[in-house]
Amino acid sequence: MISSKKIDKIYETVQIEEIIEDFVSLKKRGVNLLGLCPFHNEKTPSFTVSPAKGIFKCFGCGKGGNAIHFLMEHENYSYPEALKHVANKYGIEIEEEDLSPEQQEKDKERASLYIVNEFAKRFFQEQLLNTGEGKSVGFQYFQDRGYDEEIINKFDLGYAPRSGNAFKSAALRAGHEQDRIKALGLISDRGNDFFRERVMFTIHNLSGKPIAFAGRMLGSNKKAPKYINSPETEIYVKSDILYGIFQARTAIRREDNCYLVEGYTDVITLHQHGIENVVAVSGTSLTPGQTRLIKRFTANTTLIFDGDAAGIKAANRSIDLLLEAEVNVKVVILDPEDDPDSAIKRLGKEDFENYLKTNSQDFLEFKIAHYFPKGNQDPFEKSKAIKELVKTLALINDQLSRSLFVSKTAEMLQVEEAVIINEVNKILRSKIWQEKGKRKKDRERERQEDTTFEIQVKQEEEKLGSPDYHQELALLQLILKYGNETMSNGLSVAQYCFNNIQDKDLPGINDPQINNLLDKISARTSGPSKLNIQSLISESDPQDAQLIVSLISDEFEYSENWEKRWNILLQNQKPPEENYESDAEHIVISLKLRKVRKLSADWAEKIKGIKDNEELDDFLEFYKELKKVESELAEKLRTIIYG
Ligand code: GTP
Ligand code: MN
Repeated sequence: MISSKKIDKIYETVQIEEIIEDFVSLKKRGVNLLGLCPFHNEKTPSFTVSPAKGIFKCFGCGKGGNAIHFLMEHENYSYPEALKHVANKYGIEIEEEDLSPEQQEKDKERASLYIVNEFAKRFFQEQLLNTGEGKSVGFQYFQDRGYDEEIINKFDLGYAPRSGNAFKSAALRAGHEQDRIKALGLISDRGNDFFRERVMFTIHNLSGKPIAFAGRMLGSNKKAPKYINSPETEIYVKSDILYGIFQARTAIRREDNCYLVEGYTDVITLHQHGIENVVAVSGTSLTPGQTRLIKRFTANTTLIFDGDAAGIKAANRSIDLLLEAEVNVKVVILDPEDDPDSAIKRLGKEDFENYLKTNSQDFLEFKIAHYFPKGNQDPFEKSKAIKELVKTLALINDQLSRSLFVSKTAEMLQVEEAVIINEVNKILRSKIWQEKGKRKKDRERERQEDTTFEIQVKQEEEKLGSPDYHQELALLQLILKYGNETMSNGLSVAQYCFNNIQDKDLPGINDPQINNLLDKISARTSGPSKLNIQSLISESDPQDAQLIVSLISDEFEYSENWEKRWNILLQNQKPPEENYESDAEHIVISLKLRKVRKLSADWAEKIKGIKDNEELDDFLEFYKELKKVESELAEKLRTIIYG
């Protein structure tokens, strides 16, 4: 367990927007920040972060909570993992004994992998900067490529020496376990150093930790591969990471565009020349995971690929993937003998950027140039080209941009627009059929899930349709928002409400979730203690936290509704946030009234069954009393409502 003192410190330190901005790009909107929700697909942002309240809330899918909940949901962290993430980010130390043994074990393994990689990174850096061999071979190599020391440090570049086991001995001497070093691919099966006589590139994750390495050979030995890489491990999943994303992410967000290049050195050389919104796919073709990674920061990409066959093929595939993910793509194909690294060196930053501007094509221009070189009017070639192009066009989800690109295709290929539309529709239709077929298969399983789901929905709907539930919700909301305010009777709003509803003869709260939350709050506000929403949220389970957040946050986005809902109360009175006094009375009396009404209905039922006259009189007497109380309460309520 992490001590509660540490947890408090973590909550005191955390700035929710700083946590979320690592994953979602946010724009300022009044006092809040707004972005595209990472939990569901949306085109217009409804994901809101309130730095003042320390919470996030998506008005599209309903997800909400504090920074810790965000990490648990988004990164699939356990509660302690999320706390550790925040602690790490802010340099808050968590002592080992603070964790449960089980957690310790799991954390330790992952952490050890990072630690070994961190050690390796330092080792390679040390070799590069402080050994004769490293300086004369490695450092010299980077200098020849135009890298200064600052860029070498920024990218954690290094050097792996010629000797067969210099790294291994150093690592073992430092106490790292051989199995772990091996698992990370730093030593080969035969037990020698895996990276030898190579300049080293550190691959970082989004938070800058070293997760893998690539080593480039020196000179041009045709027999050995130019680059060798660490294998995949628990901390390195190739398809989910892009080289340079850690160093590029701020710039990508700022420029609202991401340059996608092929090689490690392309990324570094562009940085060296002041272009920082650039990442590399590193020799493989782009994956959906990598596309998602880019989309966290921007929806605009520019591919800058080599003009060789491999480059064009990679560009072609990347385009389809990006379009499908609704990312805009521009393409710049360099001359076959060029790559971004050599081009920017030759041209300098300004001319390179101009070059990109004048030579960038949209995906359509690129594909047409590729499938259907200019001037070729051969009908077979043409229909082959059309078939290829419509496949890509059919990937565009957005109707409007699809139809614009359809027109453009027709015009560029000089064919009737109807022909293209027809072909695109064929693909779309067959996609729909495929979908349907797949659904049919899933149907049986779904049917079962549906029944459970339906029952849940029904329960949910019943709840929402019930005035009782809304009253209880309103009570909880009032206490959450204004519980600490003092009323003219000297009590806090929370105390006043609890004094009244906890009256033994009076209402229970029907909804178990609300009831449970009210109990918790009541325990925290007994006596002079004030309600601390932050700590309440942080100690609630995700479901409760979600409810709390939606109750305290509706005001910052849905003020209009809020006003409507309370408008009866407002007519000639103070603004809603100062109305807690009458709100509190209103809710308490409503709850009492509801209880009394239920009681009198019960009595009316009982009376029906009574034969004995004397007994009947007693019952009627009590029933009259109840009715009197009922009408008094109703009258009181009217006074509150209509002033
Ligand atoms: P330099 O020649 O150092 O400028 O590298 P480059 O980045 O220009 O390399 P190149 O254009 O040849 O390849 C682009 C990317 O493909 C590289 O950055 C590597 O990620 C990857 N790559 C190239 N050659 C190899 C190889 O032999 N093995 C592996 N695993 N990857 C390679
Ligand atoms: Mn190159």
